[in-house]
Amino acid sequence: MDILGLHLSPRRNGNSAAMLEEFLRGARHGGAAAESYFVADHDIRACTGCAACEETGQCVITDDDMAELYPRLATAPRIVVATSLFFYDVPAGGKALIDRAQTLWARRYRLGQTDMLRPDGRGFLLALGATKGRDLFVPVSLCVKYFFDALGLPRQFDHLFFRQIEGLGDLAGRDDYMSQIYEAGRAFGRKGRGGPGQNSE
Ligand SMILES: Cc1cc2nc3c(=O)[nH]c(=O)nc-3n(C[C@H](O)[C@H](O)[C@H](O)COP(=O)(O)O)c2cc1C
Repeated sequence: MDILGLHLSPRRNGNSAAMLEEFLRGARHGGAAAESYFVADHDIRACTGCAACEETGQCVITDDDMAELYPRLATAPRIVVATSLFFYDVPAGGKALIDRAQTLWARRYRLGQTDMLRPDGRGFLLALGATKGRDLFVPVSLCVKYFFDALGLPRQFDHLFFRQIEGLGDLAGRDDYMSQIYEAGRAFGRKGRGGPGQNSE
């Protein structure tokens, strides 16, 4: 697998799902083997903040779907996050996944493990929301920046953001946006680094 696509929103057939699928369609046409992971299809419990992972590098929650996701998060060469905004950030189910990456953060920053570091890895953020404020994507950008960092990917990442996308089908009805997403996916799917990330917050 070259690319892991994480869909963090609850609507399985919604705008952000269409965004991820179009991006991965482009990535596959660009030559990458891409897999998608829909949080809505999985049981991922919330981090309890117990801090046991800081001692052991393992999460105490072992009976949910994170067990099989951890190795993929720690080894995928490229990861694309696709999300809609709920109160300016990732919806709760997706945030549970991100919070559980604390285990990987602990391995890196508390236990000094380096095996998950991927300096040549790459991240990408696809995000959309219903409103149009200037700072709409600031919180999610910070959240995903430090998520990628915890995983061992570079903090810089490319992104596409779309405002004023609300009802089911709103994004799919925008041919201009869909072709932008496809082309970005195709570029991300090509081998090699493909230039520096844009995000610097
Ligand atoms: C609980 C909730 C909170 C939301 N909060 C925001 C928000 O803070 N900013 C925004 O622009 N849109 C917000 N929205 C709108 C969604 O981001 C928007 O409808 C999006 O297109 C949904 O994408 P989806 O079809 O992938 O779920 C919110 C929607 C819900 C249900």
